[in-house]
Amino acid sequence: MCASISGFSKLSKSKKIDWMVETYFSNAEETKNVLKQYWNTNDKLQQLHDEFIENTITNYYLPLGVAPNFLINGKFYTIPMAIEESSVVAAASKAAKFWLDRGGFKTKVISTTKIGQVHFMFHGAIDSLKNYFNHIKPKLIQDAHPITKNMEKRGGGIMDIELRDKTSDIPGYFQLHASFETLDAMGANFINSCLEQFAKTFKAEALTFDAFTSDEKDIQIVMSILSNYVPECLVRAEVSCKVEDLSEDQSISSEEFAAKFIQAVKIAEIEPYRAVTHNKGIMNGVDAVVLATGNDFRAIEACAHAYASRKGRYSSLSHAKVENGIFTFWIEMPLALGTVGGLTGLHPLVKLSLELLHHPTAKELMQIVAVAGLAQNFAALRSLTTTGIQQGHMKMHLMNILNQFDATNIEKDTLTAHFKVNTVTHSAVVEAIQQLRLKN
Ligand code: MEV
Repeated sequence: MCASISGFSKLSKSKKIDWMVETYFSNAEETKNVLKQYWNTNDKLQQLHDEFIENTITNYYLPLGVAPNFLINGKFYTIPMAIEESSVVAAASKAAKFWLDRGGFKTKVISTTKIGQVHFMFHGAIDSLKNYFNHIKPKLIQDAHPITKNMEKRGGGIMDIELRDKTSDIPGYFQLHASFETLDAMGANFINSCLEQFAKTFKAEALTFDAFTSDEKDIQIVMSILSNYVPECLVRAEVSCKVEDLSEDQSISSEEFAAKFIQAVKIAEIEPYRAVTHNKGIMNGVDAVVLATGNDFRAIEACAHAYASRKGRYSSLSHAKVENGIFTFWIEMPLALGTVGGLTGLHPLVKLSLELLHHPTAKELMQIVAVAGLAQNFAALRSLTTTGIQQGHMKMHLMNILNQFDATNIEKDTLTAHFKVNTVTHSAVVEAIQQLRLKN
């Protein structure tokens, strides 16, 4: 019988598990064993994971893979990727190798500005509010100084605060729209702390602002929060080569490949049904590196898709062209990332991933992540416009199917060899494993 529970978070881990398995599972012991199988034998490490979130009952593993041979602005990288989808790391590695022989990836950070807003209501004369804002702006920045001083020493901090009038959308609604430079930190805590201080000063000082009427003195703060939409925290990654160097495959000429590839990108530029899948492929690469490096993939996802819709229609994040016989394929996307703070100094695998990437600055990580997205997109479009996606996908998926059938290592070797020359489908694999087992 399912039941509600109060005080759950205060129970010990084992009591939480007891309650959960007794309430929801038919086989309590088996369920507990599954959970315990994933506990780390190193108690300190387990405690670290337990304390990342509330009510931890076990660890949820994702594979951490690496994709070598990425040449980015003349420097070699092996990129760590945390992802469960079978074909992603293989595709990234293939794309890295392909472009390694053609000059590698070129990248550039375009901007690094982050945004936060204090949303508030004011029902009075707009000119009075503007006067108040101009009067109080230096004090907003001054009162936040204890929060910003360290960031300022390193060259970051508050860049500007604007008053934005949103009353045409919601009567009485205004914003303090602030921009920040947070250097190597993702900066969420820094920005939110500054915003909460702005809100406090903004509300309190209004009470003694002589030019306000008594009604105008009552500013109502709705909320203060960073925006994950950062269209001015932008990075560009690109690859290019002579059209004639494009094809490795006898079945398609370089010119034909370039033309088909560009058509595929153009379709994603104008057709949202295709653009979502196209960008999903980009995010396969982006998210995997974002996760491996301890960054917030939900923020990155939300922002990427908002940016992809910035012109009023959801569109491709990548673009391609041929000019003067040169094929160029590029991506421009917003990426608010950090290489200090958050999980970066805590999670042992995040630390390892950052070391593998030569301890990048946030700007360097933006470039690496954009490259992973572009590489993934290149690999997907290359397959889609030539062999089709299923050939590669199903080859990688083969191992998942074999694992579902608890295949032994010998069975795996035999069937991997078999499917090198036969088409992988779910039913073909099931049949092959059954045949093999009948023979033995
Ligand atoms: C699958 O995870 C990603 C693709 O669908 C991307 C694409 O279609 O471009 C292959």
